[in-house]
Amino acid sequence: MSSSPPTLEELAPRSEDEVREHLAAGKLVEGLQHMSPEYLKGIRRILTVSADTELISAPAYLRAAQHAPALNNFGSAISIIQDELAHAHIGYSLLADLGVDTNALIYEREPGAFKYPYAFDVALDSWYEMVLANALYDQAGFVLLSDVHQSSTFGPWKRALAKVDKEETFHLRHGRTWVKKLCADPRDKRELQRSLDWMFILTLEWFGLPDAQKRHGIQLEYGFKGMTNDELRQTWMAAVVPFMEDVGLDVPAHHDAEQDRYVIDCPFPTRFDAEAKRWMLDEGPTSWDEVLVRWKGRGPMNRDYVTRLQRGYRERCEATA
Ligand SMILES: [Fe+2]
Ligand SMILES: [Fe+2]
Repeated sequence: MSSSPPTLEELAPRSEDEVREHLAAGKLVEGLQHMSPEYLKGIRRILTVSADTELISAPAYLRAAQHAPALNNFGSAISIIQDELAHAHIGYSLLADLGVDTNALIYEREPGAFKYPYAFDVALDSWYEMVLANALYDQAGFVLLSDVHQSSTFGPWKRALAKVDKEETFHLRHGRTWVKKLCADPRDKRELQRSLDWMFILTLEWFGLPDAQKRHGIQLEYGFKGMTNDELRQTWMAAVVPFMEDVGLDVPAHHDAEQDRYVIDCPFPTRFDAEAKRWMLDEGPTSWDEVLVRWKGRGPMNRDYVTRLQRGYRERCEATA
């Protein structure tokens, strides 16, 4: 018989004012003893998004790694996957310390309830897409986690991210080295461009709703993140757009010197045909409400990837039931 899990109020003893005072004094939050229910709820949410993203990247990258041109390239991809699983482990372990039943969270949750970015729901089907995922998705992960590393008020996560940041740097360097190398061959370059056409815009979406439509409130106030969605998107474009321009690949964004910011040159957000991996740019921009519906419905690979991750646990449970 299972007893009901403790409530946020039972786990987190401090009031919101006490947390604010603690943070105003420049102190980090080290565990439940320093948390209020709101803080606990917020940090659980952002840790879940982060751990889910790391975890789902493993089956997504494994699928793409099978297209590695040689065995040692497959080995590099596998070592990246290993890193991602370790990153996921860090997130879920911290969640366990915060009173979350992580077996239920990882192995018993419905695929549709996972909280990673929609981009991972779209299959990576070639080595081109593997290395572009490193150059684009790992860059997005790096931007987000560097921000958390700098601004997080949750000490245990902040410290753990020092290691994660270094490994993400390796992943995106792997992507960039390969993109550069493949661009030397016209046929490879054309293939890269075809994949970049859908993957670039999908990564723009990664950072979520524009600031004008989203209130961050507590996320910024409690220091779960330091930058807003638009600032994070700008930081990502500042890293990716000049690189793609250097290697001669086209992206629908450019730096506007007058405004000193990156500007998106295609309808955004816009409709996406996930099966064909194609943006319906001719139809013009759509609303973020429609994008939210697509995200909520999840994409083609969601069930496949999550089922794969949960299979061993489920089989063992069934065998011992
Ligand atoms: Fe990672
Ligand atoms: Fe990574």
